[in-house]
Amino acid sequence: MDWHLAKALLEWQVELGVTEAMTDAPIDRFAEVDEAPRPAAAAPQPAPATSIDPVAEAARMAGAAADLPALAEALAAYPHCELRKGARNCVFADGNPAARVMIIGEGPGREEDQRGLPFVGQAGRMLDQMFAAIGLARNAPAPESALYITNTVPWRPTGNREPTPEELAMLRPFLMRHVELAEPDLLVLMGNVACQSVLGQRGILKLRGQWQTVLGRPALPMLHPAYLIRNPDAKREAWADLLSLKARLREQP
Ligand code: URA
Repeated sequence: MDWHLAKALLEWQVELGVTEAMTDAPIDRFAEVDEAPRPAAAAPQPAPATSIDPVAEAARMAGAAADLPALAEALAAYPHCELRKGARNCVFADGNPAARVMIIGEGPGREEDQRGLPFVGQAGRMLDQMFAAIGLARNAPAPESALYITNTVPWRPTGNREPTPEELAMLRPFLMRHVELAEPDLLVLMGNVACQSVLGQRGILKLRGQWQTVLGRPALPMLHPAYLIRNPDAKREAWADLLSLKARLREQP
């Protein structure tokens, strides 16, 4: 190699970002391999079996929460649900925690994820109108006129898909603890996913309007407000269920 070629090569390397020579003399790495073959790679070891049961872990964390703020903190710290990775906020609850009526919806949508509150989008406006018709509002100070609102899952499933059965199962202990700590007189299960999580049943068109018992309290499956937006004719059934709820509140002081 003549001087000019060597200089051109060096300049080319500098242009590529080479800033340092590692050794004074060049090393032929291929020859090195031939001369001193590396020991055979160790046989891959099986990965240690993970002993974490996400449902048991959720039950442990939820059970340790002594009040609602502690439960909100435990839920936000729960690491085993993939949903959390795609969400902006952990949506815990809204309304008056002392309310006689607690509503369980499905999960946050886009607006709920952005604002960190349940039912604040289009379905939420419908929900507010429905309950206003029987004199209940999420921010009413008096427990008998108030609502407390949460969801089966606190993180928005990406693309607004339904939560999977596994996701529902691992978040259920938090939901059940939420009910225990809020101590509502009555529960409303909004739509199929809430019924699936809480009752282990789907089929809201059959279940709606039929009172159930959940953790010792009456629970009413109702049509989801988003369903009512798509099927306005079903508002008649929703109205019948709202009247049933109002009657139950009067019966049960
Ligand atoms: N739908 C739900 O079920 N929950 C929300 O928070 C919003 C929409």
